[in-house]
Amino acid sequence: MSDRPIVAVTRKLTPEVEAAIGSRYDVRFNRTDIALSTEQITQLMKQVDIMLCTVTDKIRAEHVSGSGVRVRLLANFGVGVNHIERDAIRHAGIAITNTPDVLTEDTADIALGLMLMSMRRMGEGERHVRTGAWSGWRPTHMLGRSTRGKTLGIVGYGRIGRAMARAAAAAFGMRVIWYAPRAPRMDDAATDGPADATRVDSLPELLQRADVVSLHCPATAETRHLMNAETLAMMQPTAYLVNTARGDIIDEYALAETLRERKIAGAGLDVYEFEPSVVAELRELENVVLLPHQGSGTIETRERMGMRALANIDAFVDGNVPPDLVTW
Ligand code: DGY
Repeated sequence: MSDRPIVAVTRKLTPEVEAAIGSRYDVRFNRTDIALSTEQITQLMKQVDIMLCTVTDKIRAEHVSGSGVRVRLLANFGVGVNHIERDAIRHAGIAITNTPDVLTEDTADIALGLMLMSMRRMGEGERHVRTGAWSGWRPTHMLGRSTRGKTLGIVGYGRIGRAMARAAAAAFGMRVIWYAPRAPRMDDAATDGPADATRVDSLPELLQRADVVSLHCPATAETRHLMNAETLAMMQPTAYLVNTARGDIIDEYALAETLRERKIAGAGLDVYEFEPSVVAELRELENVVLLPHQGSGTIETRERMGMRALANIDAFVDGNVPPDLVTW
């Protein structure tokens, strides 16, 4: 690679991160901060050595099928890489890196917040006050459900799922059960789940037992619409569903129907199948809290994610294996 490789940064990053990247590379920033079109991605792939991309960049086989592709590394800003067609990119000899670890706690905090907001009807309450509908305190007004003594079911027990489990157990004394088809690597007490968390044998068992189901599995062909009419029907009518993982793990139309018919008590969502579009059937319901993909959205974490992406780029440019290699 040349002395000063060309790096495309597909979205606006924090000033410190942009300055650090700019000091080391010849950078094409996206000053409009509007998501790139397919055509713009195709063009950039031919013009730059490295693309610092993110979840809003749908990088497909078609982007690497033509001639003249120059890009050698997709340094993803974010841990999830389901927006990248990994096999096609790998076959084209392009490396992919991501930014794990640095966003774990903040994303788990949003899951915890969504759980509390749903159970205590905080989104609904906030709208109630804002619209001037509040007529005053009364003993039976806007009652939610207590977290205390409840069972939290975690689907996918990776870093973020375990951080959510730790936080819910520590803050609210919740019992934790979890389900994952493959046991995660747990070799560090600081990142383990609570000591008494119990693995269950199947998703149906978890759905039937949990008062709150929180999704933390990756988006794959196997997990697409994992929560559908059939699996949602396995949840208790008093239960809540939280999703901070990826939108397409839930069939949103089935969820809207389930919530409208009060077959479950509520839901809290941070991610959507067709982001940034959120299906109208969900938006019109009171018993769902809707956030705009804020999981990792703190100044500190977005800073760390940028620096981590940069560390991956630096390693790659120096001819080393990047620390957060996904595929190569
Ligand atoms: C992640 O890290 O995957 C966040 O959802 C942002 O893409």
